[in-house]
Amino acid sequence: MCGIVGYLGKRRAYDILIQGLHRLEYRGYDSSGVAMIAEDGELNIYKSKGKVEALEHYAQNKDLSGAVGIAHTRWATHGEPNDINAHPHFSQSRNLALVHNGTIENYTVLKEALIRHGYEFISETDTEVAVHLIEYIMHKNNCSLFDAVKEATKRIIGAYAIAVIDRNNPDQIIAARQSSPLVIGVGDGEFFLASDATPIIEYTNKVVYLNDGEIAVINRGKELKVYDSKSTSESEIHITELQMSIEELEKGGYPHFMLKEIFEQPRTLADCISGRISADGKSVVLSGVVEHKEKFLGANRIIIVACGTSWHAALIGKQLIEDFCRIPVEVEYASEFRYRNPVVTDKDVLIALSQSGETADTLAALELAKSHGAFVFGICNVIGSSIPRATHSGCYIHVGPEIGVASTKAFTGQVTVLAMMALLIGQMKGLVSEETLQTVASDIRRIPTLIKDIFKLNDKIQDLAKIFTYAHNFLYLGRGYNYPSALEGALKLKEISYIHAEGYPAAEMKHGTIALIDNDMPSVVIAIKDKVYEKTINNIQQVKARGGKVVAIITEGDTIVSEMADYVLEVPQISECLTPLLTAIPLQLLAYYIAVNKGRNVDQPRNLAKSVTVE
Ligand code: AGP
Ligand code: GLU
Repeated sequence: MCGIVGYLGKRRAYDILIQGLHRLEYRGYDSSGVAMIAEDGELNIYKSKGKVEALEHYAQNKDLSGAVGIAHTRWATHGEPNDINAHPHFSQSRNLALVHNGTIENYTVLKEALIRHGYEFISETDTEVAVHLIEYIMHKNNCSLFDAVKEATKRIIGAYAIAVIDRNNPDQIIAARQSSPLVIGVGDGEFFLASDATPIIEYTNKVVYLNDGEIAVINRGKELKVYDSKSTSESEIHITELQMSIEELEKGGYPHFMLKEIFEQPRTLADCISGRISADGKSVVLSGVVEHKEKFLGANRIIIVACGTSWHAALIGKQLIEDFCRIPVEVEYASEFRYRNPVVTDKDVLIALSQSGETADTLAALELAKSHGAFVFGICNVIGSSIPRATHSGCYIHVGPEIGVASTKAFTGQVTVLAMMALLIGQMKGLVSEETLQTVASDIRRIPTLIKDIFKLNDKIQDLAKIFTYAHNFLYLGRGYNYPSALEGALKLKEISYIHAEGYPAAEMKHGTIALIDNDMPSVVIAIKDKVYEKTINNIQQVKARGGKVVAIITEGDTIVSEMADYVLEVPQISECLTPLLTAIPLQLLAYYIAVNKGRNVDQPRNLAKSVTVE
């Protein structure tokens, strides 16, 4: 996601825009820019890679006049974070400036058509298509900016919140939204526009939330108008009076970024999947894999290097790839791999799995593998970070900025990409039938909805957390695909509540750890109906026999485990290989509520950093 700000009124727009960008920087921070129509009628765009302060430095001695403007802080999805790809983007005539939040799925087709009509692109972004398309329609149809935006939104497929200004009409801003948020602040003779209310609240608490498919026409000295882009009928304006504080607004009304990011997962996984499973569900498209098909088909081995939560996702990736592709996979702690003089050849593929793309150990591990001739592939979240720039190829998980130090939406994004990757490579190797791919791909598509269903457990999990807030130790037990889920659940609890927790293979308990079980050692057991379900039941009985309390994560409708466990949390049925995407949710929420009950700094736990760029 990114941050959009707009202003039309009586003040110097630049001041409002810059302050607004600072307020929205948490939404994306790899570049930013402003566009104002100056007092001399010039349309000026100033933009810079890096944080908003880099933009302020760049704009210092520029003409910052003008009472209308738009601004953007970017979270790149198409094109590296750099000055050219930063928003706003000029139209060809340099009469229009546009900012965009979201992704244009059909930008390649639109771009090719516009190039055929003589349009020249200077950025790598999908966004630039929008501003040229609008200008093309204005010229071709000899119509207003509003009509051109209305027509353009009919041709654009994807998620967008856009704002456009025209130097030939400095008293207007046009804005449109589809899937990405846009809010309009209604002041006294002035209007504010933003991705959320954070930049607006200090000027007015009267806001209008644009709905999907709506276009706003903001005119100086006139009433705000909102239209339905399909019917062109005027929408009724609903003004909301905000009562929230700025800090609450940055978190979308949630008390912590971590809780916001847990609840964002249906949307972020929809974004992660978007455009990667064909409409008929018969194929998966990850261009970074397809372009290097021979590397994956010829690989003797795949090594996945990662740390922390990403290492847990890697363990799930191992099972997915071995299941569907029959390629041996080794999962390595990057910090161990880089120093143990590993055997690596040019027949190896190394996957560097990292949310931040900046983890020092993971970066060093991939450089080592690259020096031995391995093909290195990155799976990251932060576009243009160090790891994607060091790998031969890769793909992004597209879950947006993860602010909470404890990883949640990035974990499920990583597992989702690994699942799609395993299906794709398995299909390329002729080992995954069309039927299997369609079944699993269809289930991947169901994940966002199923996670929303699991959120119904929220209150029950809050109550459960009260029972275990003062536990001193926890065991997390799982098998198969959910052994890594147990490890991840334990890490979530440890890192935000500071309670000691240990993830363990459920069957391995008998070889020593079971000595720890007593009434003061609760166990969370992932006991979904998978191929080792009956064995896991035995493990639960072994824990119960020694007086241990059991919280079981079970498949909806399971009447067996629900009779033997002390507490149960149900998740929907789905392909076994995808169950970690569902079992993760109650474990994230349990850890969160226990930590909150203990008064911990959930978003910034002690001793931790969001990106470990040191050894
Ligand atoms: C996870 O909740 C932790 N924040 C930490 O283990 C993290 O997963 C690890 O530092 C790896 O980070 P990366 O994915 O950015 O490489
Ligand atoms: N897809 C656009 C880009 O990559 C916008 C990304 C965003 O929402 O910041 O520039």
